[in-house]
Amino acid sequence: MQDVAASTIHLADYTVPGWLVDGVHLTVRLAPHATRVLSRIAFRPNPDSPPVPFTLHGEDLRLIHAAIDGQPVTPVVTPTGLTCDTPRSAFVWEAEVEIAPAANTALEGLYMSNGIYCTQCEAEGFRKITYYPDRPDVMAVFTVRIEGDTPVLLSNGDPVAQGPGWAEWHDPWPKPAYLFALVAGDLVAHSDSFTTLDGRCVALNLWVRAADLDKCEFGMGALKRAMAWDERVYGLAYDLSVFNIVAVDDFNMGAMENKGLNIFNASAVLASPETSTDADFRRIEAIIAHEYFHNWTGNRITCRDWFQLCLKEGLTVFRDQQFTGDLHGHAVKRIEDALVMRNRQFQEDAGPLAHPVRPDRFVEINNFYTVTVYEKGAELVGMLKRLVGDDGWRAGMDLYVARHDGHAATIEDWLAAFQDATGRDLTQFMRWYEQAGTPRLTVTDDYADGIYRLHIAQTTRATPDQPDKPPLHIPVAIGLLDDTGAEVVPTTLLEVTEAQQTFTFDGLSARPVPSILRDFSAPVIVNRTVDAAERAFLLAHDTDPFNRWDAGRNLARDMALRLIRTGGGAPDPGYLAGLRATLTDDTLDPAFRALVLTLPADNDLTIALALDGTVPDPDLIHRVREDIRGAIACDLTDILPDLYAAQQVTAPYAPDASQAGRRRLGNAVLMLLSLTDDGAAAQAQFDAATNMTQSLAALGALLSVGRGAAAAQAFHDRWQHDRLVMNKWLAIQIAMAPPEQAVAITDALTRHPAFDWGNPNRFRSVLGTLAAHPAGFHRADGSGYALLADWLIRLDPVNPQTTARMVSAFDGLGRFDAGRQVAMRTALARIRQAPALSRDTTEMVNRLLR
Ligand code: PHE
Ligand code: ZN
Repeated sequence: MQDVAASTIHLADYTVPGWLVDGVHLTVRLAPHATRVLSRIAFRPNPDSPPVPFTLHGEDLRLIHAAIDGQPVTPVVTPTGLTCDTPRSAFVWEAEVEIAPAANTALEGLYMSNGIYCTQCEAEGFRKITYYPDRPDVMAVFTVRIEGDTPVLLSNGDPVAQGPGWAEWHDPWPKPAYLFALVAGDLVAHSDSFTTLDGRCVALNLWVRAADLDKCEFGMGALKRAMAWDERVYGLAYDLSVFNIVAVDDFNMGAMENKGLNIFNASAVLASPETSTDADFRRIEAIIAHEYFHNWTGNRITCRDWFQLCLKEGLTVFRDQQFTGDLHGHAVKRIEDALVMRNRQFQEDAGPLAHPVRPDRFVEINNFYTVTVYEKGAELVGMLKRLVGDDGWRAGMDLYVARHDGHAATIEDWLAAFQDATGRDLTQFMRWYEQAGTPRLTVTDDYADGIYRLHIAQTTRATPDQPDKPPLHIPVAIGLLDDTGAEVVPTTLLEVTEAQQTFTFDGLSARPVPSILRDFSAPVIVNRTVDAAERAFLLAHDTDPFNRWDAGRNLARDMALRLIRTGGGAPDPGYLAGLRATLTDDTLDPAFRALVLTLPADNDLTIALALDGTVPDPDLIHRVREDIRGAIACDLTDILPDLYAAQQVTAPYAPDASQAGRRRLGNAVLMLLSLTDDGAAAQAQFDAATNMTQSLAALGALLSVGRGAAAAQAFHDRWQHDRLVMNKWLAIQIAMAPPEQAVAITDALTRHPAFDWGNPNRFRSVLGTLAAHPAGFHRADGSGYALLADWLIRLDPVNPQTTARMVSAFDGLGRFDAGRQVAMRTALARIRQAPALSRDTTEMVNRLLR
């Protein structure tokens, strides 16, 4: 085991770089096992730094030779880099190193995926390509020459020249090394063009293997929509003559925003109606937009250091959420984003892995690409926008861009731009970036003599390393309704800044019904005792769509928690009546109705129980959810067939919000119908389906009632040649498995010929799906933990990054009963003892076990 304390990096220890780079010239001579990288780098001392020795990062490199100003030198080489005696003034460094991309299974640095050379340099992968000051505050102009015998040779920026077996690229925009990219392979392009608001004609290419050329059109359209949106909404235009996107099969994450050369996990860009679901289309569009938006928020303005990761990620997620909302409707998008927060981020924030949106220490930065940095980071941006208003938001963004374009910035810089542009004091707001944990608001109210008062108290529980939590600046949007549902106070933003505060509304003729935390205006938990009648009233009448949905969710949640506490029983008639009224209200968006029909996730209930000091029992939670589903199916049996029929789309398939919403509701109803018709409707849908949305949902419904064997076989036979569809085939069998079979099914699928476990998508489809199946993973006998541990031990030497991410599945540690805790600890201890465990996984296991 490594000495982790010794290698912890602290935000407080930041110092400016000792040496700056004026220009980089790379020549890359590609060969699978012996690629040569020649670098020529112009260095000069940083005038803002005291003199420091010359050091460069470098890992897994074989140094062939090095020279300074043309004179050979012999640096001192260590496993993490080198140091060398240098002049105290500007000089030119030259080095030649050898690397082996074909042997690189970690997918960081230069590697090969299915015969295609590609790179992944964020966060610290460039040091696996050549010796360099691999930190984001060192920005430089790159010129790259690639030599190789593949037809396509790509790098960042604009193409300069090319000939048989070589190509040269020049990127005029100074960038940190993490945005460097190179791709070479037998690829074909789906091409188009876009003219920017300043009249630049940009060539757009989506590079894929020839067999995937028919899955590019949607992604290209999404890219053009993103380019137009960023111009329209923020006045930000693209800045090179070409924008390239490449799809690769082996990728640790979704995609990467390398300047002018985005590299995508094939699953995040390739789309067709036959092979992609409506949800895939939406996700692909959002990821393409996200990476494109990084060109400004991330690339032109980058991060000073990796602690500032949320500066680019939180902001860019916020921008892609805005984009999706603008294109397809804000109400549904807001509910979906809140679900990610409640089902995933609140869990992270309530467990041993809790960390601030801007962490202040890490061992391995790859372990901090989390739902907290990304999604909670986006929520902080959204709160800031609410606090400064739309005009203040635009003024602040403009000032931020004007001040920091071409530079590496911090969260302090970010907030200063808004403070200076709007005059608002954001000192207290800064705590959101530094303080981990989900705040809980306890809300009570009273009414007398025409005066209504809301009392709001905030508390945040201790998290690792942060025992004390001073109050945060929380924007709480509220509205007040009268007993007909009319608004007596329209949406108003309350600013909660103290531990306890009272807000007064006078001149009311009767006690109003409050609608609190409209539009999910802050990532907090609201605690307020509300009876079922008031919730049902809000489900029927709230004018805020988010809170209308939330009223239904709270009804379901209160009921589920009651049934869990009492060990079972009958669902609430008020809930069933509210559901019936909502589902049959054809004025409501079908997607919204599908969301109202979705019961609170196991994770959501688990956290609610844990916060109230009850030890959650995953089996019981699962059983109560199933009982409620059964009761809904029975109670609504008279309306479900018609509701299902009414959602069927006869027009040709389009992945638009209107069709997708109907399919979503239809498929949600199909799940319920299957409980009462033995899967007949699902089998009919499966047999007739001409798109993946309906085919996969029908397969899922059949599997969920134990009637899926034949359909699963048919699906397999039809799609076995398509690796992206086979990921779905693997995942759905586990996701839909009854808890007592999930481990055995997962184990069996790991022996299926399709399970190529070195591929991250495959590994996630199988082991990741088990880890996301609460009652299946948390088997009381520990078999889920043991199976995951076996596979993580196997994967770690091959791909530490994907291993470490999946170790977070154990973050229920401390939440469950003693037996499960022991079983989790045993599994984690076994991982910790694996020989030569990676730094990535070591850090995660240590954080979980501390
Ligand atoms: N920066 C990428 C994004 O947010 C994510 C990523 C991180 C990809 C690290 C690869 C490695 O879009
Ligand atoms: Zn990003």
